[in-house]
Amino acid sequence: MALIFERPSTRTRVSFEVGVTELGGHPVVLREGETQLSRGESLRDFALVLSRFVAAIGIRTGPHRTVEELAEHSAVPVVNMLTSEHHPCQALADLLTLRERFGDLRGLKLAYVGDGNNVANSLMLLGAAAGMEVAVATPEERRPSLSVDGASVTLTSDPEAAAEGAHALYTDVWVSMGDEASAASLRTSLEPYRLDEALLERARPEAIALHCLPAHPGEEITAGVLYGERSAVWDQAENRLHAQKALLELLVA
Ligand code: CP
Repeated sequence: MALIFERPSTRTRVSFEVGVTELGGHPVVLREGETQLSRGESLRDFALVLSRFVAAIGIRTGPHRTVEELAEHSAVPVVNMLTSEHHPCQALADLLTLRERFGDLRGLKLAYVGDGNNVANSLMLLGAAAGMEVAVATPEERRPSLSVDGASVTLTSDPEAAAEGAHALYTDVWVSMGDEASAASLRTSLEPYRLDEALLERARPEAIALHCLPAHPGEEITAGVLYGERSAVWDQAENRLHAQKALLELLVA
C-alpha cells in the first residue's frame, strides 16, 4: 500500500504502517517532496502508475479535490487519510470506541465541541449514518462546511446545550493544520468551547471524553479530562489501528 503524507502525522502514519504489515502487506511511505508530484507530474499519471504497483493508495493532503482526482484515475482503492474537509478514518475509530463502550451505536448522543473542522464533518456524516444523534457546538463563524440532511445532526453555538444528555463529549485542536495564520483569533473565539470538567457534568453520568489528538491540555481540553477516568482517548487512538485494518480487509481482500 502506498501511503502518501503531504501533511505531518503521528497516529495515522504509525497505525497504517503497522496495520498494513500486520495484514501481510508492505507499506510504502512517500512524504511530500519525495515523488515527482512535487515536480509537476499529474495526479492522473501518478494514479495510473501507482495502480500498477500497489493494492491500495492512502493519502493525507490539504485539498479534498486531490483525493477525488486520485480516486478518479486509480484502479485500486484510495483511502482518505485526512483532508482539510474530511477525516473519515478517524471517525471510524471513534465509532468503534463508542461501540466498545456502549454496544449499539443507534440512539447514542455524541456532542462535538470546538472548531467546525474536518473531524466535525466526518463525525456528522458517519454518526448520522450509524443512527446516532450528533450535536455540534461551534462559534457561529466556525460552523462545519458540510450540511447533513436529517434531524439527527444539530448545529448550535451553545456548548452546554450540545453536551446535555450526551453519551460522549468530543473535541479537537483549535488550530488545525493549515490554519496557523489565524491561530490568535481562533484561540479567542474558541475559548468558550473547552472540554472541561464542568461541561462533562452536563453529559450523562456514564459519558466519556474523546479527542482525536494531538491534544493541547489547557486549550481545547483540560488535563483533568484528558487524563481522567472518563477519558477514552487512548483506546480511541489505539482503535485507529483496528478500524483501519478492518477497512483495508474490506477494500483489498
Ligand atoms: N488524529 C490524527 O489524525 O492524528 P495524526 O495527525 O497524528 O495522524
